Order: sequence, then C-alpha cells, then structure tokens
Amino acid sequence: MTDQTQTSQKQQTRQPWRWPQPLAGKNSRIWYGGDYNPEQWPREVWQEDVRLMKQAGVNIVSLAIFSWSRLEPAEGQWDFSLFDEVIDLLGSNGIAVDLATATASPPMWLAKAHPEILPIDEDGRTFWPGARQNWRPTSPVYRRYALEMCRHLAEHYKDNPYVVAWHLGNEYGCHNLYDYSDDANAAFQKWCEERYGTIDAVNKAWGTDFWSQRMTSFDQILVPRHVNGFPNPGKLLDFKRFSSDALLDFCKAERDAIEAVTPDKPCTTNFMVSGAIATGIDYDRWGADMDFVSNDHYFTPGDDHLSELAFSASLMDGIARNKPWLLMEHSTSAVNWRPVNYRQEPGAMLRDSLAHLAFGADGILYFQWRQSQAGAEKFHSAMVPHAGADSQIFRDVCDQGRVLSDLTDAGVLGSRVESSKVAILFDNESGWALQHPTVPTQKLAQFTEPFSWWKAMADLGITADVVPVDGKWQDRGVVVVPNVYLMDEGLADRLRDFAREGGTVIVTYMSGIADRSDRIWLGGYPGALRDLTGVRVEEFSPMGDDFPGVPDHLDLDNGATAHDFADVVTDTADDARVVSRYTADKASGMDGVPAIVLHPYGKGRSLYVGCRLGDTDIAGSLKPLLGDLGLAGLVRSTPQILRVVRVSPDGTKFVFLFNRTREAVSARVEGEVLVASQADAGTAAAAQVAGEPETTEGTIFPAGLIVSRVDD
Ligand code: GAL
Repeated sequence: MTDQTQTSQKQQTRQPWRWPQPLAGKNSRIWYGGDYNPEQWPREVWQEDVRLMKQAGVNIVSLAIFSWSRLEPAEGQWDFSLFDEVIDLLGSNGIAVDLATATASPPMWLAKAHPEILPIDEDGRTFWPGARQNWRPTSPVYRRYALEMCRHLAEHYKDNPYVVAWHLGNEYGCHNLYDYSDDANAAFQKWCEERYGTIDAVNKAWGTDFWSQRMTSFDQILVPRHVNGFPNPGKLLDFKRFSSDALLDFCKAERDAIEAVTPDKPCTTNFMVSGAIATGIDYDRWGADMDFVSNDHYFTPGDDHLSELAFSASLMDGIARNKPWLLMEHSTSAVNWRPVNYRQEPGAMLRDSLAHLAFGADGILYFQWRQSQAGAEKFHSAMVPHAGADSQIFRDVCDQGRVLSDLTDAGVLGSRVESSKVAILFDNESGWALQHPTVPTQKLAQFTEPFSWWKAMADLGITADVVPVDGKWQDRGVVVVPNVYLMDEGLADRLRDFAREGGTVIVTYMSGIADRSDRIWLGGYPGALRDLTGVRVEEFSPMGDDFPGVPDHLDLDNGATAHDFADVVTDTADDARVVSRYTADKASGMDGVPAIVLHPYGKGRSLYVGCRLGDTDIAGSLKPLLGDLGLAGLVRSTPQILRVVRVSPDGTKFVFLFNRTREAVSARVEGEVLVASQADAGTAAAAQVAGEPETTEGTIFPAGLIVSRVDD
C-alpha cells in the first residue's frame, strides 16, 4: 500500500454507561412506556391517561419533546406550570419521566424574530417554519436560545425526583441534516481546517487537481451547493461527515448544559438506526458521547420485517457495546409517513418488542401514548388509539405490560446478548461514499449487501451480529466485510491480523477499494486487501437492464446467479483455490472468470465473493464451504426460527425463538417457558437427558415467539 491521506477521527473514548434509575423505593424494571404529549389534551384526559398507564404497566414516558412553545410562549417568558402538574401526576403514580430538552421544534416566535436560524437547501431555498426541526445545526443564534432552554429546564427540574433521564433533542437530523446556509459554510471551513490543518492536505484528500478545483485558502471551501455537474466526491463525503459532526456538536452542547446542572441524571438521544433506511448520522461515533443509547425503529412492511428489525437491533447492540439500550420509539400498528401505511398483523406488536429486548433493549417505548386528534400524525398508531381503551391495541398494550413485568421477575435485567461467532461489519461512511452519483452503479445502496449477508446467515440457522466497523469484532470466528468500500491501513491490518491468528474473513466486491478520503488504492482492486484475499481485479462488470443486450445477470458454476455487480478477477494467488467461476458466453469475457475464491492466510483464511448474489444464493454458495470457513458447527437445523440468547452473569440463559416465516414451525424449546405468544409451547419431551436442560417440542405460528429460561 502506498501512503495515502489517513485521517481517522474514530478513535474515541466512550462515556461510561449510565442507565435511568428507578423512582425512589422501587426496583429496576424493564422500562415500558412511550412519548407522552399532554399539551395536546385537556386536563381531564391526563387523569384518564395516568389511570390507563397504570393499567398497562407503563413505568416511564418521554415528555416535552415538542413543547417549546408551551414552555417559553414568548421570548424570556418561562412557564413550567403544565409540566410541573403533569410530572407530579405521573411521578406520584409511579411513572418516571424521560424529560426532553424541548429543542427539536422551535416556536414560531423564534423563527419570526430570527429567520437566520432557518436551514437552507442546496438550491438556496429556505425551510420555513410549519413542520419541525426548522433550525440550522450550526446557527449560533439557535444554539444560544436552545441552550438557554436546556439551562432553564435543568435548573427548574434539577431536584425533581420523577425525572430519571434527559432526552436530548429528538432524532437529530431527521429533517435538518444537510444545511447549505452561510453558517454551515463557515462551520464547514473550520471543520476542514481542524481535520486537515493545511489547505494542501484538503487538496490532496479531495483530489482537487481534477477539474481545476485546487484551493489556496480555507475560505475558498464551499459547502456542496447546487452545481452544474458532478460534485467532488471527497468533498461530498467530508460534508456528510461534517453534517453528522455538526449535529453531534450541538447535541453535546445540550448535554453539557444539562450535565452542568444535573450531573446525576443520564442523558440520551434517540437514534434512527435502521437496516433499511440509509442514515446520514454516524451513530457509532455518537454512541460514544451518550450515557446510554436509544433507538427509534419502525417496521418495514412485508417479508423482510423481522430480519430488518433483527439487523438494526443487533447493530444497536454493537453501538451500545453490548450494554443495555432503550427502544425509544416504535409503533403499535401503522405509521403515517409511508405512501401506504400498513397495519401490523396480530401478534406482531409483542413479537417486535420482544425481538428488540432479545437484542439488548432493556426498555420498550412507543411513539406515542395517546393517538393525536389533530396534526400531521393523527393517523399514526399509538398505545391508546382513537377508538379508546376499549380496543384490541390497548388490550395488547396491557398484555405486553404484563409480559415485560413477568420477564423482569424472571431475571432478564442484567443479562446481555450472547455474542455470535459471526460478525457482519457495518460502515456508515462507506455507504455515504457509495451514494455518489459517479460510482460504477447506483445499485450499491448502503444496506443491501450487509443485510443480504445477515439474511443468508439466518437462512443457514446462524444469528450473526451486525457490528460497527470500529466496534468489537476481533473476538469472533468469522468476520464478513460487505461493501466496506473505504478502508484505511489500520482496518486492513486488523483484518489481516484476525485472519493470521486463525479467523475467517469473508470479503465481498466493493470492499477495500479506496482510502478514507475516497482515493483509490492503486495496483488492482481490492487494493487494501489484495494480499489477504489473494485476488486482483482489473475492472468491474456492473449489470443492469436499461439497454437492450446489456449483461443483466451472470451464472456461476455452483448454481448461483449474480445480479447488479461482478468483479473481473484477473489474477489469483498461487495458493488460492477458485471455488466457483462464471459460466457465460465467450463474447462477454466473463466465462471462466473466478467468482468465489478461498485463500489461506496465516492460521486462517479469506473467502472472496466478487459479485452480488443476494441472500438465497449467498447461503447456497456457502453451504459446501461451511467446513472450510469454520461455520460448520454453527448452522442450525431450523433456520425458520430466529434464535437469540441473552445470558446473565451467573450463566442463566434466556432463549428467544421467533418464527421467521408465514407458516407454523416446530421448535425445540430449552428450559422453562416464560412467554409463548402465537405459539404452542408443547409438553416435556419423554426422554430428558440427565444434566441437560429440559426440552420440549413446541410450535410457533406466524408472528409468534417463545421465550424460555435455562438455568445454569
Ligand atoms: C419519529 C419521531 C416522532 C414521530 C414518529 C412517527 O421520527 O421521533 O416524533 O414523528 O417518528 O413515526
């Protein structure tokens, strides 16, 4: 490898983990509740709310997320009366409060007095007030007002025993991630100066000799506003980094203002870690600055739902570094923001909650407690729907409260997710770089390849962990590197060391192609990993169907089919074994080209998969290689069941089984059954082996699950 600009800002220390403590006199329970917006309702409804919350087993709510216009109805006029009353009502009824800093949506008076806080899009258009998050992350004016709000709230509630956590902002960047204002421009210039030190270093990182973009001073740097051609990829990537960092800086300023007054209460903010929606925030980096991390997750309609949930919840466990995290929002049924807002099928609500729990969430909250009567989210489901408490949803909410309480009593708190032997690496920044309009194909969406690998492993009966690229994966047996396009020498070294010590590294196409500044590693792809993989690629062969006669697929001689993308592998190392080749017509130049290559490396090995196979064909291609890859002992005979285990320090195991299919599936249930939903937990098997946990044969119906406990 040549020496290329390597600026990694990822080596951070992480905040010690701190969790919201129970109200005085109470024991820790799995937290259960939702966003509560009492300002939308008359006082009488608050009384009913608290009665119903107690009935449902709710023990926490997130409060005041969008309440600035009530808390400060005019500049400098503070009015906490509504929230004093509500917090007192909640707390005296045993319901704790996760109190928001209320800064997610500025009041109308602020935008009117200071239109310079409003974000600007890349075409120069203003985002006017009328929705939410209409503020610039880099506006010093907005920051001043927001921090004033934080200080007032913290001072006012510092001794309130019912406030157990602070909820910083809300889903930072959901609507204001990319801002192209003059404030953003000045902040971007400063960010570049801090990151690179000299303008020449910026020139080098961005390759500005291309198209005469060389700069001689930092004030020539411009945020990537609307341009008449393709924007500089290095700059665009850095702008994405900057945008995530600018919001993090804002969030940390809120945290610091709060912590200065109430250092005893932990702070969090709700992430949007999804396995389906590309995110512009580098959540793994953000996780380092939170006392505990939280996530909002909304279901993907259709067959992928449970897999997508598992993928993102596992990634949350990785971001949380295996500490408890909070599911801050999900939905009891339909959302309101898709073109078609599908309802949840019976059983899915509890199944989803327990799936998040299985992957490490020690608190399950919803958006929102009571379905709004007016406003943009009035058709979004809630814990108390428009129909009222006499409804299936509310009955399910109450059932779930009982289940979570039973699981607390059974000892689930304190257990952590058992690590898988297989880690799938996830790199947000690689996804950002591959979003550029000039990459070899626009089909390289961020989650496609990692998610296919997760599903392929699940199809083999292996529950893989999704681990941030800078997280902890070195203790696994197999590491998958799917489309980790950006790779510095440090990461390449870590992968090599891992293989050298006996691990298996599975590398896909479009991994190890460029350094962290998006400058290509030269000499043949994958430049950062040529020696590890034992392959050399001279060209790519993307596939499509947009012109007659273009290649739209490639067959492999192992029966699999590649779509969208393939590497033209031109050389393999002498000690490499080509496991599979393409079979194509001679004219294509792909006939006989290696597609899958196994390469010994130190005490371990790598497997190179040079094309997009999709989950079914990945699983099929891996099957004959399980022994070679160290996966043989990990496959389970019932891949229709997703199995996730949480383990307590004393060795007690909580085994979660979820049906991944739309058919009834029979399942081997270990130990004592704690929860069976849409399932028949079966009866004890006739022959119980001494010393082994009791096993039953159960049946799990669609959307069903079984949780059992196996004592050590
Ligand atoms: C989240 C947000 C909530 C609510 C919810 C609806 O993005 O934090 O306030 O809008 O989505 O699904």
